[in-house]
Amino acid sequence: MEGKSVSEIVARHTYGTWRAQRGWKPPHVTRAEGCHFWDADGKRFLDLSSQLVCVNLGHQNEAVVEAICRQARTMAYLGPAYACDVRAELALKLLEVMPRGLDKFFFTTSGTEANEAAFKIARMVTGKHKIIARYTSYHGSTAGSIAATGDFRRWHAEPVSKIPGVIFGPETHCYRCPLGKSYPGCDMACADYLAYMIDHEENVAAVIVEPIVGTNGVLVPPPEYLPRLAEHCKKRGVLLIADEVMTGWGRTGKWFAVDHYGVVPDILTTAKGITGALAPLGVVATSRAVSDYFEDNFFAHGHTYEAHPLTLAPAVAALDEYRRLNLLERSTQLGEYLGKGLRALKDRHPSVGDVRGLGLFWAVDLVRNRETREPFNTPQDKSARRPLVIDQVVAELGRRGVSVLGWVSHLVLAPPLIVTEADLDFALEALDAALTLADQKVG
Ligand SMILES: Cc1ncc(COP(=O)(O)O)c(C=O)c1O
Repeated sequence: MEGKSVSEIVARHTYGTWRAQRGWKPPHVTRAEGCHFWDADGKRFLDLSSQLVCVNLGHQNEAVVEAICRQARTMAYLGPAYACDVRAELALKLLEVMPRGLDKFFFTTSGTEANEAAFKIARMVTGKHKIIARYTSYHGSTAGSIAATGDFRRWHAEPVSKIPGVIFGPETHCYRCPLGKSYPGCDMACADYLAYMIDHEENVAAVIVEPIVGTNGVLVPPPEYLPRLAEHCKKRGVLLIADEVMTGWGRTGKWFAVDHYGVVPDILTTAKGITGALAPLGVVATSRAVSDYFEDNFFAHGHTYEAHPLTLAPAVAALDEYRRLNLLERSTQLGEYLGKGLRALKDRHPSVGDVRGLGLFWAVDLVRNRETREPFNTPQDKSARRPLVIDQVVAELGRRGVSVLGWVSHLVLAPPLIVTEADLDFALEALDAALTLADQKVG
C-alpha cells in the first residue's frame, strides 16, 4: 500500500472493465447509503443511474443486508443438487411476480450467465441453433452472450467470441429508425422484418430482445411491437427470449417490462434488481412447454454456484421490500415527474434531441443537430477512444455531485426507486447546468 492510494492500487492490480487500462482512475468510494455514495474526501454523489442500473432499492437496504447475514449464519452454501428452504421460498415468490406461466427457474450469478443458459435451453428444446438478436442491444460479456450483443462491445471480442448462428436484425428505434420509417405509418415493419428473417434463415431457435433496450438508449417500443413479435415467433415455433436484466424489478413501473404489453415470452432472463444488486443473482424463467422438454431429456447445464443460498436469501427480502415500499407505483409516479422535468430541459437546451423513457428509466439523447438528429459521437468514436461530448457532460455532472451513466451520445437516468422529488430536482438542476456544455457544440 505504501505511498499509493487505493485508487492507484486498484487500477494497477485489478482490471477496469470495458476500457483500455491506461488512464483509469477509479473514484475511491468509502460509503454508500440510499440514493447516495461518498468518496474518500467526503464528497456526496446522487447515484442517478443506480450504479449499473441495478441498485433499485438503494444502497445498503437494511432488510436485504440482514437477509444475507442471516443466511450466512444458517447455511452459507449448499450445492445445486440439494433442496433448501430459501430455494423453495424464492421459487414460490417468483411465481407471484413472473409473467403467468413462467414457472420453472434456473439460477445464475449474473445476467450474462442467465442469457448463456437461455440460449443453451432454447437450442436444446428446439433442436435448432440460430439466434436472432438486434443490432442495438447488449446481452452479456461471455462467448454466447457477447456474440448475441449488437453493440460495439462485440467488435472487440471478435473473432474469439464469434459463435456461429447469431444473426442481427433491426431494433425498434422510433427516433432513428434503422428502416428509415416513422411511426405509426411504419406499421411495425421492424417486427415484420424479424419474421422475414426467421422465414429466410430456417433453423432459428430463438429471438432475443430487451423489451426496452437499456444501455443503448432506453428505446421504448410502440405498444404493438412486442405483441406482434410474439405472434410472429409463436406462429413459426421460434422461442421468444425477453432479456429483462435491466428492465425488470420495477425499473419501468411494472415487475417486468413485458407486463406493459401483455406479452409472456417463452423464456425471461433477469438479474440486477432481483436482489437490488446486493448479491449477484440472475434467473432464467421458463414456460412449462420449455421445461417439459427436459423431463426426459438431459438438462445439460449447471454451475457450482447455481441456486447459491447467499444469493437467494436477499432476493426473497428484496421482493418483500419492493412491495413494502410500494416501489412499482413509486417508479411510475416519480418517473412521470422526472420525464416532465427532462422534457422541460429539452425545451431549453438545443443539444437535447430526444428524451424518452418509462417508469424511472430515461434517456437524454444529445445531438449536434436537431434537424438531422446527428448525435455528437458514434459507437465508432467510443470504440476508438476518441473524446466524447457525453463524457464532458458526465464529468460536469460529477463535479456537481451527480453520478450518471453516459453512453456514446446519451445519458441513462435510472435512479434507485426510493429516490425523492427533492433528489430529482437536484439532478435536474445539475443537468440544466451541465447541458450548456453540449449546447455550445451544437452546429
Ligand atoms: C440487457 C442486459 N442483458 C444482460 C446484461 C449482462 O448482465 P451482467 O452484467 O449481470 O452479466 C446486462 C448488463 O448490463 C444488460 O443490461
